[in-house]
Amino acid sequence: MKALILSGGTGSRLRPLSHSTPKQLVPVLNRPVLEHVLDNVRELGITEIGLIVGAGDRAVPRAIGDGARFGARITYLPQDRPSGLADCVRIARPFLGGDDFVMYLGDNMLPEGIADCAARFRAERPAAQLVLKRVADPTAFGVAELDGTGRVLRLTEKPREPRSDLAMIGVYFFTAAIHAAVAAIAPSPRGELEITDAVQWLVDRGEPVGATEYAGYWKDIGRIEDVLDCNRWMLARQTGSVAGEVDPASTVAEDVVVERGARVLRSRIDAPALVGAGSVIEDSHVGPGSAIGRDCLVKSTRLLDSVVLDGASISHVSGLRSSLIGRGATIGRSRDDRELHRLIVGDDTRTEIAA
Ligand code: G1P
Repeated sequence: MKALILSGGTGSRLRPLSHSTPKQLVPVLNRPVLEHVLDNVRELGITEIGLIVGAGDRAVPRAIGDGARFGARITYLPQDRPSGLADCVRIARPFLGGDDFVMYLGDNMLPEGIADCAARFRAERPAAQLVLKRVADPTAFGVAELDGTGRVLRLTEKPREPRSDLAMIGVYFFTAAIHAAVAAIAPSPRGELEITDAVQWLVDRGEPVGATEYAGYWKDIGRIEDVLDCNRWMLARQTGSVAGEVDPASTVAEDVVVERGARVLRSRIDAPALVGAGSVIEDSHVGPGSAIGRDCLVKSTRLLDSVVLDGASISHVSGLRSSLIGRGATIGRSRDDRELHRLIVGDDTRTEIAA
């Protein structure tokens, strides 16, 4: 079995982060989402991985490399513009050959893995096997209707009036039967070749299409809130360890991770939290749910439930909560005016001030 991981797309709902970083490289527990995806694929024993990237994208190949780090071989498959998930299968056809494959959206987090779904697909080998999850708002997803025996009857992409609450989450298993379906379908009203339509084509021809309902945690990292939520979920399940330095004047709770080269000075860190390699936490209180990247500075600050990306610096801030601070950003005290805030805020950023 091979894997086809999709890392194209624009990530417009992840602005401003997606202005500078493909959304698949946004960190969860200080590692790009794409690395978590690769972990899950490797766990299935798959070593041949095709990675669809935007044609001009240098960031993903730079961050992920040739796959050796993951014990796999990655073939980069450029896509000129985002033209749908089925178009990705079309582009990958020469790479996939006649092999079975798992298609995995590179912005989907399933931290509990997909081993059970893969085992079922390998045992039954239907033309397609979908992974479904009940969601509160099915209009944002591809939605599946099943019959009483769990057979897939109908699939609709982002239905205005959903007939079920079972969303297709970003993992699909296929045999080579999908290629005929992809070749047969026409672009949807939004101008994309939809994988939903390709699987429906298989259903219409009586091909076996299975579905498994996913019991674990799943997050499509589409919005800033999803990044915060997923970090929170993963933090709550990490095992604490201190490889960095904690001075005697600091208190670090049990389930906190302090990575190598990080320094915690005169500070309190409540669990769960993560302090990335090389970061310095000084005279601060870091509260539960905070993931601090590498080489950050947090000084005389109270920070709760927040994600701080590499190289950011936060000093003399009395309280920040549920915040996301981008790479290399600086938040500090105004030097010449204690009454008025001074902000230099990038495009599409969001700032809430407790005035
Ligand atoms: C895509 C698929 C949709 C699926 C979703 C899962 O939507 O088109 O069927 O439910 O991923 O994350 P997108 O996130 O590209 O809007």
